[in-house]
Amino acid sequence: MGGKVTVIGAGFYGSTTAQRLAEFDIFDSVVLTDVVEGKPEGVALDINQSRPIEGFETVVIGVTTSSNGGGYAAIAGSDVVIITAGVARKPGMSRMDLLGVNATIVRGVSEQIARHAPNAVVIVVSNPLDEMTALVSRVTGFPHERVLGQAGMLDTARFSHFVAEKLDVPISMVGTLTLGSHGDTMVPVPSQCSVTVDGSAQPLSKLLDSAAIDELVTRTRNGGAEIIALLKTGSAYYAPSAAAARMAQAVMQDSGAVMPVCAWVDGQYGISGVYLGVQAELGAQGVRRVVETPLTDAELAALRQAAEAVRGKQADVASL
Ligand code: 2OP
Repeated sequence: MGGKVTVIGAGFYGSTTAQRLAEFDIFDSVVLTDVVEGKPEGVALDINQSRPIEGFETVVIGVTTSSNGGGYAAIAGSDVVIITAGVARKPGMSRMDLLGVNATIVRGVSEQIARHAPNAVVIVVSNPLDEMTALVSRVTGFPHERVLGQAGMLDTARFSHFVAEKLDVPISMVGTLTLGSHGDTMVPVPSQCSVTVDGSAQPLSKLLDSAAIDELVTRTRNGGAEIIALLKTGSAYYAPSAAAARMAQAVMQDSGAVMPVCAWVDGQYGISGVYLGVQAELGAQGVRRVVETPLTDAELAALRQAAEAVRGKQADVASL
């Protein structure tokens, strides 16, 4: 045990993330903040009361914050800060529709993080993800490796779930990968997907024809929207929070785990100067290194196209 993690935003995504982090039982404390008076304190109290049942020592501290910085002193000394603040999509909306409103919120939060937790690794989950990650990097002024975004873990998990369901195999037998943006230019990477059958890893293309793979790729790309359409209010949070919490764990434990995340790319794949979904090795300082994965020509072209699509938008966020 040791260390402190802060989750900004006590909506479903933030509170579920706080719960998962607390249940890992690796942190001294999880700070949960929100601008809604009493909400983070209430969620924290509820999670803390589950401690004797679940058997974890980590304490959750709920703090109401104000846009002028009130309450933010509580995040001082955080090793990791996860930003979930912002609004979620409504049915029919694209993640980009959230750009203006969430940029204002995320900018304000980033200023407070820079002031009160200047040594933290920041994990961004607010949407549109790639743009918000770039904004946090810009506003905090933190080194690029200390600002990263959660999306690839989630998109990859969705892809794996769909493959396991389609082939009716245990989820533990499936390995998939998605790169690129958390949006229309998401790049599922079928060439890196495999399923273990009778102890040996088989390429996905041996088990499913290309039409079937394309169908799962499309469903993965629309994975968030599919859930929003079903829920009608709010967006997904169980799988997203699982992904964000595992990233924070990798940072806190300096584990070197390789995960698909939104990271600063500087020369890998022939792409430079942009936040993009890639595989990265995570440690105490955030991204230790971007891990280049062998790609087919078509996958590489799609990744480069994704980079150019998000590059323009990321430049735009500076003015928001
Ligand atoms: C999703 O894809 C929240 O963007 C997130 O569900």
